[in-house]
Amino acid sequence: MQTRAPIIPSPEESDGGWEMIIWTDEYLTGNPGMDGDHRRLLALFNEFLTAVNAGQGDGAVRGVLDELTDYTRHHFAREERLMLEGRYPQYERHKKMHDTFSRQVADARDHLVVGSGMSAFLLSFLGGWLARHILGTDRDLGHFLSNRGAADH
Ligand SMILES: [Fe+2]
Ligand SMILES: [Fe+2]
Repeated sequence: MQTRAPIIPSPEESDGGWEMIIWTDEYLTGNPGMDGDHRRLLALFNEFLTAVNAGQGDGAVRGVLDELTDYTRHHFAREERLMLEGRYPQYERHKKMHDTFSRQVADARDHLVVGSGMSAFLLSFLGGWLARHILGTDRDLGHFLSNRGAADH
């Protein structure tokens, strides 16, 4: 059986338009709080993608992107709290990834002109980063927390 790559393809690869990220159990980290957040994050990413693909105006696209950014902030804070509570040895490295990503998205958002290369960049950057980060870095954290039996907050 062929498994679908969770990373969204570029428009060239996908024959026009960006594809949604479909949730699969591959994204599960084992931490219910993180998993719930990740589902919501991917849903918000798909909303952003839909707005761009539908050719909605700058204001609408930026509004959806802001919602995604706000939720990302909330989610990163949750993971960072879990890491501190669980005395996670990779805390600094993981937090740095969150910080860099947040800065890059904020920069890109400030320069967003819908229909320009920037929205395509944001789509590929956001989608690719979220999928890879959840599948790698966040799953490592989830496994660590499960092994420790840390309570979810
Ligand atoms: Fe996460
Ligand atoms: Fe994370």
